[in-house]
Amino acid sequence: MTKPAATLFAFVALFVLSTSYDAKGARRKLQVSNFGTTAEGILVYRYVLTNDKGAEAVVISYGATLVSLKVPDRNGKIADVVLGYDSVDGYEQGTSYFGGTIGRYGNRIAGGQFTLDGKVFHVPTNDGPNSLHGGTIGFNKRVWTAVDRSRADAEVLELSYASSDGEEGYPGSLKVKVTYTLAAESNELRIDYWATTDKDTVVNLTNHSYFNLTGDASQTILNHQLTLHALKFTPVDATLIPTGEERAVEGTPFDFTKPTAIGTRINQDDEQLKFGKGYDHNWVLEKTDKDGLQLAAEVFDPSSGRVLEILTTEPGIQFYSGNFLDGTAKGKGGQAYAYRTGLALETQHFPDSPNHPNFPSTELKPGQTYRSTTVLRFSTRK
Ligand code: GLA
Repeated sequence: MTKPAATLFAFVALFVLSTSYDAKGARRKLQVSNFGTTAEGILVYRYVLTNDKGAEAVVISYGATLVSLKVPDRNGKIADVVLGYDSVDGYEQGTSYFGGTIGRYGNRIAGGQFTLDGKVFHVPTNDGPNSLHGGTIGFNKRVWTAVDRSRADAEVLELSYASSDGEEGYPGSLKVKVTYTLAAESNELRIDYWATTDKDTVVNLTNHSYFNLTGDASQTILNHQLTLHALKFTPVDATLIPTGEERAVEGTPFDFTKPTAIGTRINQDDEQLKFGKGYDHNWVLEKTDKDGLQLAAEVFDPSSGRVLEILTTEPGIQFYSGNFLDGTAKGKGGQAYAYRTGLALETQHFPDSPNHPNFPSTELKPGQTYRSTTVLRFSTRK
């Protein structure tokens, strides 16, 4: 497409999106605007989802990224509780995965290699000897196509991406959809993932938002109180690859079965904490119902009263305490994101599963449908 034709197409698309109504003619629809262009000149759209309870979520078509998420504190004061950038360039240059949709494989694959159906596949190593978050150009660095699917009871944005056979070394053409749903009547943001393939492949999708419930990213997250509904975690080697063991959290700094401030034990003399430079591990979620949506984590910020509950269908959750943030990333409003000023809770299958037959499988075959759901539920407490 020529540049003028692309611009015309973009304006028509904007018009179509901004005038879409649901079947009942309800006026609930999301707002769309231009977020900027990529270095290659591709237009990136910005979608604003709002509800009647003070919440607002901003998602862009670059990386199907959650750019901002505003929710009230205990006094009704609204603030943005996720880290991110103000420009496309920030996301293109960024190495922290702020708010991005991670794929084809979230977290690490050891040595950038795995065997599937007896064949060895090589994926790019971009984290020491390992492949991290889908490789050099993961799903968080791709431009997605969005459609407004808003209904009377929710504003809904569906984003699609077609990952080609062999992209970043992964077999099979993968069709992916990610849907963000902001409920009208409650401060709940639901993220649904869907994928199909035409060849056997592996898939592990997640969202990489960094939360800071104070709403002020100049503060650390060390006073946030965390609960994880997990009795075990998967210990790692020095390069953060799981050893294959599932270890009891009891009696270790990894026990978050009761609400505990993140900073309480983070600097303890513990080999696993040293490997992660803090918390950067996968917890094995307690499942009463194998396929259902279950409470995985709760985060409470005593200063603002904000509470985040995370529900998921996934078997694991990566709790990362922002140990690689070092102030070099200049985020929204020029804020430099310093050490441990954001925490990620990435719902997922376990890291390096393709190389660990004892872990829940991440294989997807033609004819099967990958589905995963995560809900971010916000409230406040005294
Ligand atoms: C995940 C990984 C971390 C780190 C962050 C992004 O949480 O486990 O080691 O790569 O993503 O910086």
